[in-house]
Amino acid sequence: MSKTTPPEDSSDKMTHLMFLKKFKHLNPLEPSLGTLGFILIIVLFVSCFFYLDSLSVARRIRSQGVAWLGVHGASSMPSSSSSSLSSPCENARPQFLDEGGDECDVFDGNWVWDETYPLYQSQNCSIMDQGFRCSESGRPDAFYTKWRWQPKACNLPRFDAGKMLEKLRNKRLVFVGDSIGRNQWESLLCMLSSAVPNKTSVYEVNGNPISKHSGFLVFKFADFNCRVEYYRSPFLVPLGHPPARTPAKVKSTLRVDQMDWSSNSWKNADVLILNAGHWWSYEKTLRQGCYFQEGKEVKMNMSVETAFRRSIETVINFISTQVDTSKTHVFFRTFSPLHFRGGDWNTGGGCHLETLPDLGARPVRSERHFNIVYEVLAERSDEFQTMKLDMLNVTNMSWGRKDGHSSVYYRGPKHGKAALNHQDCSHWCLPGVPDSWNELLYALFLKRELIRTRNLTKSY
Ligand SMILES: *[C@@H]1O[C@H](CO)[C@@H](O)[C@H](O)[C@H]1NC(C)=O
Ligand SMILES: *[C@@H]1O[C@H](CO)[C@@H](O)[C@H](O)[C@H]1NC(C)=O
Ligand SMILES: *[C@@H]1O[C@H](CO)[C@@H](O)[C@H](O)[C@H]1NC(C)=O
Ligand SMILES: *[C@@H]1O[C@H](CO)[C@@H](O)[C@H](O)[C@H]1NC(C)=O
Ligand SMILES: *[C@@H]1O[C@H](CO)[C@@H](O)[C@H](O)[C@H]1NC(C)=O
Ligand SMILES: *[C@@H]1O[C@H](CO)[C@@H](O)[C@H](O)[C@H]1NC(C)=O
Repeated sequence: MSKTTPPEDSSDKMTHLMFLKKFKHLNPLEPSLGTLGFILIIVLFVSCFFYLDSLSVARRIRSQGVAWLGVHGASSMPSSSSSSLSSPCENARPQFLDEGGDECDVFDGNWVWDETYPLYQSQNCSIMDQGFRCSESGRPDAFYTKWRWQPKACNLPRFDAGKMLEKLRNKRLVFVGDSIGRNQWESLLCMLSSAVPNKTSVYEVNGNPISKHSGFLVFKFADFNCRVEYYRSPFLVPLGHPPARTPAKVKSTLRVDQMDWSSNSWKNADVLILNAGHWWSYEKTLRQGCYFQEGKEVKMNMSVETAFRRSIETVINFISTQVDTSKTHVFFRTFSPLHFRGGDWNTGGGCHLETLPDLGARPVRSERHFNIVYEVLAERSDEFQTMKLDMLNVTNMSWGRKDGHSSVYYRGPKHGKAALNHQDCSHWCLPGVPDSWNELLYALFLKRELIRTRNLTKSY
């Protein structure tokens, strides 16, 4: 409290004078030194009150997430709470990895500004597609790299690449899915390799470049004898030629009752992260003459939605019968939202002007794909429990990040910005949103290890 002089502002003087007049009017006594002193004290009190009020307004603005204006310390503030300041609430939150954090839903939370982010720079990570190198492709703003995910009911452990690599020693971690899965895989590769000083000790085992869109890529961290792999399988079920004697309009079929043939290569992994959704659309299937097949039969009238449901059931069956879930920690990452505005990806939709997340309450979006995965899991919740499948429930948190997409900055440093009518509002810039998914992956991965050891010690 340093400011004790009354405000110099003339309008303030006016009000104080008027106050004084009124005071005189109410007290027809001659003003004595005592009453003058009393008035002075009141004036000081009033101006001090105004000052305090403006302070609390400033605080309220800050805690509502306008922290990017250059105010520090917002990292410890829940962005949506307007009433209280950070510290009491922050201290009350248990750590997710402590026993007190067991019940915490880490997917329910807010994006908060954090000056200590990002966790790596794209320039320092050679293992990354051009498509995700937004800042190197000319994206001028960097706010999108500075948001940290803060669960409401607990604090997440800070990502420690060295610790994760140590836990992955002699192990395999595998991503299977579409190009958003690849987006997340490359994010994790960069997060992990940031802790490895000898960059040549991290390499693709077949010498393939990262940009090669082959069936799979396997990166080895030689010092830890650990492998972090990606298998491209956008449907998770096999896509192939139709059987003989099918109508000519059937160009290909998706075998919704079979698991992708590559599954033999990855079902023994130690950590498995599956995803699907983006390719289960009319445009990418039936429109292209790609129909759905069960057994030997092409189901000419099966809808995309039914087919997607069947494929998820196939995935669940596969996990419960073919995967040793006492060894393999299986995650299913939910649908990653798109943010095309004013059109779709092929009709001039865009997101290139978005530089800030939606910090306020977001509308509840119901997404077909999102619901199908949950519905199938709900129907099979008994198995789901025994399988110990973990959801990476990223859909809701990512709706708020319309600022995080590659937009026109996906062509790499040499080629410059893309045309405004060819934007990418489905993939994410790196560093960026998928890093936060991987921090949640890290937290859930460590949590399971901890519970296992906690149970072991208890049983002695
Ligand atoms: C996914 O997360 C959202 C946001 O926290 C939550 O409302 C929803 O119930 C979660 N779904 C599941 C299946 O955990
Ligand atoms: C990127 O690399 C440069 C040069 O090696 C280093 O000074 C800088 O700290 C690195 N940045 C990050 C975020 O790792
Ligand atoms: C870096 O890693 C490579 C591959 O594992 C190894 O051959 C080389 O000796 C390492 N260099 C240093 C300085 O440790
Ligand atoms: C789909 O085709 C089968 C026969 O192949 C038929 O029995 C069924 O009623 C059809 N369903 C719809 C919704 O048209
Ligand atoms: C997503 O999160 C918001 C809070 O940010 C919540 O109001 C909404 O119910 C959630 N939606 C779903 C589908 O869980
Ligand atoms: C640990 O023990 C609790 C009950 O004490 C049980 O619910 C849980 O499934 C066990 N976890 C593992 C990984 O064995």
